[in-house]
Amino acid sequence: MKVHDLLFVAILSLGVAVHTQLVKGQPRPGCPTRCGNVIIEYPFGISEGCYYPGDRDAFELTCKDEKLRFFAGHEVISIFHSGQLRIMFPVAYSCYDVNGNFEGNSLPILATRRFTLSSNNSYIGVGCSTYALLRHHGKQRNYTFGCISLCDVVPPDGECSGEGCCQMPVPRKALEFKLYPRSIDNQTSVHSFNPCAFAFLVENGKFNFSASKDLKDLRNVKEFPVLLDWSIGEQTCDQVGKKELVRWDQHMY
Ligand SMILES: *[C@@H]1O[C@H](CO)[C@@H](O)[C@H](O)[C@H]1NC(C)=O
Ligand SMILES: *[C@@H]1O[C@H](CO)[C@@H](O)[C@H](O)[C@H]1NC(C)=O
Ligand SMILES: *[C@@H]1O[C@H](CO)[C@@H](O)[C@H](O)[C@H]1NC(C)=O
Ligand SMILES: *[C@@H]1O[C@H](CO)[C@@H](O)[C@H](O)[C@H]1NC(C)=O
Repeated sequence: MKVHDLLFVAILSLGVAVHTQLVKGQPRPGCPTRCGNVIIEYPFGISEGCYYPGDRDAFELTCKDEKLRFFAGHEVISIFHSGQLRIMFPVAYSCYDVNGNFEGNSLPILATRRFTLSSNNSYIGVGCSTYALLRHHGKQRNYTFGCISLCDVVPPDGECSGEGCCQMPVPRKALEFKLYPRSIDNQTSVHSFNPCAFAFLVENGKFNFSASKDLKDLRNVKEFPVLLDWSIGEQTCDQVGKKELVRWDQHMY
């Protein structure tokens, strides 16, 4: 038995249903169905006529060297009918030498356009002299929040619960997120076991904190899976005032 999703796009005009179109949540005829190991399904597509035409910016993906990528260039790992997209997003870090001189950093920005960060993610800071800030850029306002982790020796491996690792739920409605791992003292007090401050977004359940490995070099991991919520929403309203509604139904075959 297999679960089969059907996408119904009901186009309503001035509250009156004038047209109903059934679109299978499956590859369209003649459209590429795969990129590497990832199955591509409508409304996403990699060639003209294959993605949802009302919002090309959001639904046109690219496939190069067997890697599927979305508009911001991040790799897409899976597309879910239920309205989620799993991407890979890099770890942010700020590193210092033994004297506290700045050695290098990476401060990635997640621009989601009108997709939103799923509530199935957390924002995590790793370090022993570290605070992890997440700057949120919205249409109406910007704000920054974060978590802090201080420790003087390598804690035992275990949960991300404040000792060497802190975590927070993520805000959902935002156009852009900036990750800022910061250090209280340029890591000088903990440099022997923790030369960098780290921060990243990650899908819940996809990161187990290992103090002995992660404090030393989380950069080896490079990227973590992050879930975005996608929908065909109000912003595809055309100038005539039509409103599109999307409903996903699941049928057992
Ligand atoms: C800490 O690093 C910053 C650069 O990130 C540098 O401007 C500052 O001088 C450093 N402080 C110390 C105490 O080394
Ligand atoms: C998101 O989290 C919920 C509850 O924890 C779970 O039921 C759901 O399967 C998760 N979604 C994905 C795509 O992992
Ligand atoms: C939020 O920050 C961005 C980038 O710093 C800026 O361009 C934008 O105007 C800010 N938005 C508001 C509402 O202040
Ligand atoms: C985290 O640990 C749990 C329990 O040991 C395990 O089931 C899970 O696969 C681990 N997850 C990762 C991403 O390593």
